[in-house]
Amino acid sequence: MALLPRKRRCKGIPTSIASQDNLGGSNPNDRVRFSEVGIFLVERRMGASRRRFLTELAQKKGFRVEEQMSESVTHVVSENNTGNEVLELLEKQNGISRTGFNAALVEITWFTESMGAGRPLEVESRHQLQVTKDSVAVTEVSISSYACQRRTTLKNKNKLFTEALKVLAESAELNESEARNLAFSRASSILKSLPYTVTKMEDLQGIPNLGVHSRKVIKEILEDGTCSEVENLLRNERYQTLKRFTSIFGVGVKTADKWYREGLRTLDELRASDVKLTRGQEAGLLYHNDLYVPVTRTEADLIKQIVERAVHKFLPTAVVTLAGGFRREKEIGHDVDLLITHPEEGKEEGLLCQVVNWMTTEGLILYGGITGSSHKGRSKKPEIFDHFEKCLSIFGLKKELVNNLESKNLRNSDSLAGDETQGIGLADHTEAAQQVMVAAACNKDRKAVRVDLVVVPYSQYAYALLGWTGSRLFERDLRRYAKHLKNMSLSSHSLFDIEQNAFLPAATEEEIFAHLGLEYIPPHERNA
Ligand code: CTP
Ligand code: MN
Ligand code: MN
Repeated sequence: MALLPRKRRCKGIPTSIASQDNLGGSNPNDRVRFSEVGIFLVERRMGASRRRFLTELAQKKGFRVEEQMSESVTHVVSENNTGNEVLELLEKQNGISRTGFNAALVEITWFTESMGAGRPLEVESRHQLQVTKDSVAVTEVSISSYACQRRTTLKNKNKLFTEALKVLAESAELNESEARNLAFSRASSILKSLPYTVTKMEDLQGIPNLGVHSRKVIKEILEDGTCSEVENLLRNERYQTLKRFTSIFGVGVKTADKWYREGLRTLDELRASDVKLTRGQEAGLLYHNDLYVPVTRTEADLIKQIVERAVHKFLPTAVVTLAGGFRREKEIGHDVDLLITHPEEGKEEGLLCQVVNWMTTEGLILYGGITGSSHKGRSKKPEIFDHFEKCLSIFGLKKELVNNLESKNLRNSDSLAGDETQGIGLADHTEAAQQVMVAAACNKDRKAVRVDLVVVPYSQYAYALLGWTGSRLFERDLRRYAKHLKNMSLSSHSLFDIEQNAFLPAATEEEIFAHLGLEYIPPHERNA
């Protein structure tokens, strides 16, 4: 700010800004370097001379500055005005209402920081002028294209559209088209964050992440109630079959597609075929009926308690936390994600093996192998997300416990443990173990539930919690935001500041958001 002269009232200075004389008669906007950005400076409270000074400064740096508010303005910059005052002014002077333009309303800080950086910076929430509801009909604040700058609760007001876009995203994924998958996922996510239901195309004005294809889908749904492309996909045999096969634990798109090309269509055909299944896939197929049924919150809470008891058997002061969708306050999920840590770092070493072995002999774990950096066993797949020691298991939850939960006090630990049925050992895959697994699958007393157990060293716990809470798109955008806007590298282990060449420690999620210069978003608003 020091580089700019303070506001001074100069009578007689014309309010026209682009001082043609100074610039030898050529249009200063001819030397524009950032053509996609158009700045309009609000003169009110800034004063004409400062406005002219800022205009010339920006033009020298290659920015396009518009004298009048117009369609091509992307940033309305104001100093010492409220958002509502700016809107009022634009309406009065230019006859443009908020619904009539898509530009961001920003504080002068965005301008000065951009000048300092020599390029237009991304608008962060701290730059945005706040507009209160009553003066505005539709989009009151500009919406970030980063999911980690949006608050997305489970109250989705645009399900009709988001469900359709989800089908297109899934189809792209099944076709291994990552870019299309991401585009449809982002479009669906932005609609989930809207505080209103879209009822006409104009409602989408100024909303980022909606490409031509997604808009076409929305338009068709608005007109016809459905989208023909989506309807066709839902009836498509390949789509249906690949969805079916990838719903089996341990089966990815490549495998599902291979089976499809081999002519397989149903789970029964798969069972009857002689295709070679991995141990995990075998278990997934065996327990498919149960695993296909969503996990309820009651079941998730119960499983957390059971695992906690098992963990405390070996390490009484260890901490078990429910992460994933249930931490985001979802009522149902496809699995239960549990993080295990201990305040004294190092104590957690060797814990997972003990716990999983014990739960397996108790019949609590029906299937599960340990993977991760600290485990000696080889892991087949390169780990995409993190290197924590973990067990992606199939848990056997006594149905009786769920049914009786309301009336029963769960203090008796015996009632939580397993009994007659034995799960299979970790490493062995003998015929006996196979028979035990089949017996368990036929056991109507237990429901098979997918449970992810992740052991985390305490110093990485905040990062692991943030990384394992999701949603996937929220995580993805957090990492993208860190990389592109902060030159930092974020993972479930750490945050690395590339400029400072240093890791930034954090004890809480709040600290991580602060490191990233982001407003804190609580878990229930991360349902992007
Ligand atoms: N995750 C991860 N590493 C994995 C698997 C998952 O870091 N190997 C993260 C994902 O990025 C996600 C979170 O853990 O943010 C939870 O993943 P998942 O259980 O697949 O999804 P949920 O959001 O919990 O949804 P659901 O309720 O369907 O389980
Ligand atoms: Mn989950
Ligand atoms: Mn999971």
